[in-house]
Amino acid sequence: MNIENETKESILQCDPEIMLDKAESFLNLMMRYKCAIMEVETKLNVLNSEFSLNHNRNPIESIKTRLKKPASIIEKMNRRGFELNVESIEENLFDIAGIRVICSFVDDIYTVANLLINQDDIKLIRMKDYIKNPKENGYRSLHLIIEVPIFLSNEKKYMKAEVQLRTIAMDFWASLDHKLRYKQDLENPEDIAGRLKECAELCTDLDNRMQDIRDEIDKK
Ligand code: GTP
Ligand code: MG
Repeated sequence: MNIENETKESILQCDPEIMLDKAESFLNLMMRYKCAIMEVETKLNVLNSEFSLNHNRNPIESIKTRLKKPASIIEKMNRRGFELNVESIEENLFDIAGIRVICSFVDDIYTVANLLINQDDIKLIRMKDYIKNPKENGYRSLHLIIEVPIFLSNEKKYMKAEVQLRTIAMDFWASLDHKLRYKQDLENPEDIAGRLKECAELCTDLDNRMQDIRDEIDKK
C-alpha cells in the first residue's frame, strides 16, 4: 500500500467527529492561503497601476496564481518525511500559495520584487535568484518566499507565499521544460535537455537585447 492510501485508510478509521474537525481546519488553512494570494495579487496590481501612470507602460505583463492541490500537498509532505497535519503543513510547506509574475523585461523583475519586499507589512523569508545564478538545466527566475498578513474577523495571520518572477521568454522556456520533467518514456531525453539548454541561452540573449533596445528608446 502506498503512503497516500495509508493516509486515506487512517482517515477512514478515524472517529467521524475528529475527522470533521480535521477537515474543517484544513479547509480553514486553504481559505487563509487563498486570502494571502488575493492580498499579494492586489499589491502587485497596485504597483503595476502606479508604474503605468508614471512611466506609461506596465512592468507586469500578467499574473498567474494557484493554490496547491490537496493531493500535491500530501505527496510533498510524505516525500519530505513530515508528519501530516495542519500545523505541520503550515510550518513546512512554503509554496501552497503560488503567485507567478510575468514581466516583459529583466530589470522590471527586480523593480517589482524590491517594491514588494520593501512594503512594511511584507516579511521576506527567502530569496533564490536563478537569474543571476541559473540552474544547471538553464532555468531562470527570481523566487521569493514571503509572509503576508491577512486580516480575519478576530485575528491577523501571517501566511507564507511563493512568488516567482520571470520574463515572458523565461516563462515560455519554463513551460516547455516542465513538460520534459513530466514525460517518462522519451527516447532521447539527454538530447532534448541539451537543446532546451541552448534555448535557455537564446532566451537570455533575447532578454538582454530587448532590454538594451528598450533602454535606448527610453533615453530619447
Ligand atoms: P520545490 O520543492 O520543487 O518547491 O523546490 P524548492 O523548495 O527547492 O524551491 P525552488 O525555489 O528551487 O523551486 C520552486 C519552484 O520553482 C518549483 O516548484 C517549480 O515551480 C519552479 N522550478 C524550479 N526549478 C525549475 C526548473 O528547473 N524548471 C521549471 N520548469 N520550473 C522550476
Ligand atoms: Mg514548489
